[in-house]
Order: sequence, then structure tokens, then C-alpha cells
Amino acid sequence: LKGQVRISTDLRISNIDPRLYGSFIEHLGRAVYNGIYQPGNPNSDESGLRKDVIDAVKQLNVPIVRYPGGNFVSGYNWEDGIGPKEDRPRRLDLAWRSLETNQFGLHEFMEWADKANTEVNMAVNLGTRGVDAARNLVEYTNFEKGTYWSDLRRKNGAEKPFNIKTWCLGNEMDGPWQIGAKTAYEYGRLANETAKAMKWVDDSIELVACGSSSMENPTYGSWEETVLDEAYDNVDYLSLHRYYGNPDNDLGNYLGESLDLDDFINSVVAICDAVKARKHSKKTINLSMDEWNVWYHSNADDKKIEPWQVAPPLLEDVYNFEDALLVGCLLITLLKHSDRVKIACLAQLVNVIAPIMTTDDGVWLQTIFYPFMQVSKYGRGVALDTRVQSSTYSSKKFDEIPYLESIATLNEDAHEITIFAVNRSQKEALDLDVQLEDLNVKGIIEATQFCGYDIKATNEDSKMKLAANTNVSADYNHVHASLQPLSWNVIRLN
Ligand code: AHR
Repeated sequence: LKGQVRISTDLRISNIDPRLYGSFIEHLGRAVYNGIYQPGNPNSDESGLRKDVIDAVKQLNVPIVRYPGGNFVSGYNWEDGIGPKEDRPRRLDLAWRSLETNQFGLHEFMEWADKANTEVNMAVNLGTRGVDAARNLVEYTNFEKGTYWSDLRRKNGAEKPFNIKTWCLGNEMDGPWQIGAKTAYEYGRLANETAKAMKWVDDSIELVACGSSSMENPTYGSWEETVLDEAYDNVDYLSLHRYYGNPDNDLGNYLGESLDLDDFINSVVAICDAVKARKHSKKTINLSMDEWNVWYHSNADDKKIEPWQVAPPLLEDVYNFEDALLVGCLLITLLKHSDRVKIACLAQLVNVIAPIMTTDDGVWLQTIFYPFMQVSKYGRGVALDTRVQSSTYSSKKFDEIPYLESIATLNEDAHEITIFAVNRSQKEALDLDVQLEDLNVKGIIEATQFCGYDIKATNEDSKMKLAANTNVSADYNHVHASLQPLSWNVIRLN
């Protein structure tokens, strides 16, 4: 099995926005409580923040984290989470049929983000609330002083504004499961008016409008058009959400799902640009893939969980090796679209469909942690289209799935080229031939592979490791590598 790629600075896709490697923390299950926040745990600091979780998040190099939801935000009063903890209300969280104690809120999350070296992507509630709560929140977080909300922030211990730059205008407002779901017109109008008021408080912020929560929603397509018709001039990004699973245990098809993501992104770009053309606008709407991951392992267990508990173990997917391969393919796909996808959030970050899991004794890292960590760390700079040539196979859903999935990134500051590659073949090693056209290399900094595991193997015992790939050679403008069957590979050159 052979695969060829070309690397040339002429094949530049885009500068990569670091926010492509964002993630997501929702008040859901054990993401916040007993995830990032667990007062009294020996691993927690004086504020109750789990230090071992912060260390793992830092390893992932996550530049931005979306908060506080998700479905949760559509019933959330942000004011419940500020001020003295003893005065904060306990409330029903109707989205996840749980109890919310509000012991963790805005200031606690900002402190956590600061300690985890990450920015915040804040979502406002456009389900049960609207313009007023949203503009007050921007005043609270971003206005310096001398007004009711900014002075309340200072009274609550934050003298300096939080200066949050990226904001989501609600969550999945097209979904009947959403508290306060809306028609596209209702949402488009509300998003526009909320956007205007938020930007009047701080015109430096960027706003993400809700696109469809999946391509299967019956309003998909017309939703995007209507929302953009109403809100085009006041929003900056349109969101996409997409989750994958392998319930039929069809590995070949499952590993092809990155083609579905490719299709989804292409179609949303087309809709954004059609509205742009119709409006004769000079402004381009970019995309925020603000929820993506594998999510299906925990569905059956979640149905058994008793309602109205604090921090029940919801959505605790345990990922296996095949999931890590798909996540690698999805990351490559996001990079291929880095000209239009500027923000993406792996959903989620801790315990809930997450790369990082906690127990009372420590953390363990899921299989998907490894590809995400490597792409987030080394996939910085410029994305280069590699013009992959590889034979293909077909599956139930896809006609032509290339055995080789690949992208390259060029970090001009560090003088590094990184090749990310997945060999989808279940049986054969892939002989990779890389032609460097107007670039040349001195040698290999590092070549790693993630392979050789049973496709259903999981990592609760923390035994899985990235291994060195010794079958890689590089000379001047040529690189050769042998990629193991079912493998995730990273080759770093300088
Ligand atoms: O990430 C889990 C949930 O998936 C989010 O709350 C929601 O937005 C989506 O349906």
C-alpha cells in the first residue's frame, strides 16, 4: 500500500487560528463538580481547583475553553454563580435533570482558566433569557469600572475586567431538546439584537451565532440561511456541532466519518457565502466548530441515571483505540479547513465525553488525548494542503475513503514542518513518500506512532503510549516512512 504527499509553501491553506484547538466545559455531569473543581480533594488547591486536572489540560495546550454550556446555558442565570457562595441558589438544571448548587460560577471559572493558561469562550443564555442578561454580563466581565455591573465584579474580588473576547449567542437553538428552542427567524432576530447590544458594551468582542446542531436536523440549511439573513452584519462566526459513533461496529465506515465532517463544513461554508453574495456584503462569516467528538459509548448507561442528583456521572464515554484514530482524522479535517474554521471546541474536556478523566485519587488520560495533544502542540503556524495520493476503499456510507489521511503544518518561527497522518488500512502498512518541493529539511526532530493496540482497547490503566517510529528517513527534500496498519503518526522535521 502506497501513499504520496507533496509539501510546498504554494499549497498554503491558511494561518491556523490557535482557537482551533479549543475545548469545552459545561455544567454537566462531573465536568465541573468533581472534575475541575473538588474542594477537599488532596489534589486540589486552596480554591478547590484540581491541580492534577490543570496539569493535564496544560499538556493539551488548550488555548480557549467554551463555558458554561451546552444545553445547560439555555436555562442558566449567570448571576446565580457570583457573590458569596453561601447565598447562591440551588436550582433544577432542566437540561440534564440534575441539581445545580452554583458553588462554582463565573469568578471560579475565570480563576481556573487563568491557572490552566487558557482563554474563555463564554456562552450567553438565549433560551430563557435574552438581550438584557447578555449585555449585563458583558458589562460585568469587560467594562472597567464605574457602573453597576462592573463595580459589582470589583466588589466580588476582580478589580480588573476579565476581557472575554469570544462569545456564543446561545446554544443549539434549533433543537427541540433545548430549553427555549426557537424557529430560525425567532433566533436570528434575537441573536442580532443581542449581538448589537453586547457589541455596544464592548465593540472588540467576537460573536458566534448558532448554526444547526447537526446535519440531520430537519431545518438544516434553511436554519443557517435565515439566521444569517437576520444577523449577518452583527455576528462573526456560525457554529457547527457534530458527534460520531460506531454503534454498528463497522470500523472501515467509522474511520471514514471525517469525510462527513468535510462535507458538513463545505456545505456550511457554501451557505455562508451564498448569503454573503445575496447581501452584496464584503464581510465573510467564518465557522466555529464549537462541539465535536465521538459520543455514543455512554448513551445506554445515561438512561439509567436517577434524576436530580448533584454531579451524576453523565456522558462518561470511555474511548477506545479506534476512537483515537477517528479523532486524528477529524483533527486533520479541521486543519484542512483552517481557512474558514477559526474556532473549534473538542466536546468536552473533563469527565464528560472527555480526553481527561478524574477519580478521587488522580487523573487518567483517554486514548483520544494523544492525537489531540500532538496536533494542538505541533499543528501551529500555517496549514499546508498535502495533495494526498492514495488508493481508496468504499463503505456503507462513503464511496471513496483514502487509506491515507494527511496534512502538514509549517511553523515558520520554529523552522519546523510537521506531518500528521493516519493509515486507515486494517491490514497493510502504508509506504509514505513525501516530496518537499520548495522546502528542504535537515533531519527528523521526532517521529511517533500510536498503533498496535486492539481497536477496542481503552486506557483506564494508563498503559497506552506513543511510540517512536524508527522506519522514517529524511534527506533534503524527501521523506520516507512506513506507517503501520491502523496508525496515527506524527513526523516532525526541521
Ligand atoms: O456536549 C454535550 C451536549 O451536546 C451539549 O450540551 C449540547 O450542546 C449538545 O447537544
